[in-house]
Amino acid sequence: MTTESIPFLDLSQPHAALEKELTGVLVRALRSGRFVGGPDVDNFERQFASFAGVKHAIGVNSGTDALRFALFAAGVKPGDVAITVPNTFIATTEAISQVGATPMFVDIDAQTFTMSAQKLESFFQKNCETDSQTKRTVLKKTGEPVTAILPVHLYGQMADMDAILSIAEQHACVVIEDACQAHGSAYFSKRTNSWHAAGSMGTAGAFSFYPGKNLGALGEGGMVTTGSPGIDAAVRMLRDHGQQKKYYHDIEGYNGRLDAIQAGFLSVKLLHLDGWNKQRRERAHYYNHLFDAFDGVISPFEPDWAKPVYHLYVVRVADRDELRQHLEAQGIGTGLHYPVPLHLQKAYETLGYREGDFPVTEKAAAEILSLPMFPELTEEQQDQVAESIADFMEIRKKGRREMHATGAPA
Ligand SMILES: Cc1ncc(COP(=O)(O)O)c(C=O)c1O
Repeated sequence: MTTESIPFLDLSQPHAALEKELTGVLVRALRSGRFVGGPDVDNFERQFASFAGVKHAIGVNSGTDALRFALFAAGVKPGDVAITVPNTFIATTEAISQVGATPMFVDIDAQTFTMSAQKLESFFQKNCETDSQTKRTVLKKTGEPVTAILPVHLYGQMADMDAILSIAEQHACVVIEDACQAHGSAYFSKRTNSWHAAGSMGTAGAFSFYPGKNLGALGEGGMVTTGSPGIDAAVRMLRDHGQQKKYYHDIEGYNGRLDAIQAGFLSVKLLHLDGWNKQRRERAHYYNHLFDAFDGVISPFEPDWAKPVYHLYVVRVADRDELRQHLEAQGIGTGLHYPVPLHLQKAYETLGYREGDFPVTEKAAAEILSLPMFPELTEEQQDQVAESIADFMEIRKKGRREMHATGAPA
């Protein structure tokens, strides 16, 4: 077997294959001079709405904008509380804080790494009550209204949306799906007896087109998806300085538009997304098959109600940092998503959380390792990753045996 280095992700192969079409987009823009708005943005929004199974899709500047605009448009206000998970990228909570609300956390499910519906239920039971005047669900301690829930379909896995949506309905909360890592993931709803795409079940969904995502721009980009005409109209205004007509500003907004060139690139790439997602799933299943033979590697869990698209392939191992070093030394790229849970980040010291508050997330943060995953990854490369992990396990085992024999650390 060859032992070439294996990148964590490969952003050049898919673009080399599409070079002619992508350059065509650039040349078209250079000739037309349409760089902001116009037919490329409109077309991509229509294409993406159909891909995600929603009526409305609004192109924005990033996934962070998508989350922030979706929260604004769904009516989340300064002084509100929005609930999410501590195992996510900080953009989820930045968006909450930037609309003036306070993020609060519930722990994740140990198998899916996404929001635990049971923990969400007990959050409401323990911390909330119904305000006698407004009839809204509020925090017992402060009286602040709890108005939003943000499940994160992390790694391309799916949060258990049936359970989360029914809890949200009981408390009149909006649900903003953070689908920034889940373009094309699907969830089987027992409520409707059918499959639904990530980003199509909540009040709104938010997608990122950061280059490394399953659908990545050649720069920045994002999308809000929704079934609500009101949210569609509000996000269109928010992304464009609060105007519906040029220089007539109904509200203050943002410069949060999706570039026409990026929309053109994304339209070209979207045609390949189903194929790429299929390849990612196949690679994930091949890794699972290889790791079945390993004692110390826990593969990702795939519940029968989810079709994850494996933005990341994340395993759990005991000696994570040492294994990571071992793989790096062999030229195998890995990632950590994420090494420090949000409730323990310096940026959130003022929220008052402590170590031990979210044990499932904290344990995961110490054990998770993201292995190379991209559609073009070959079986040979995957065999090489598995062999390198097997070597590491063997070295560890030998070290432990020697330690037992001599009584001293190996
Ligand atoms: C879970 C999650 N939420 C939000 C974002 C923010 O997206 P962007 O980087 O496009 O602003 C990301 C992107 O990394 C993400 O992974």
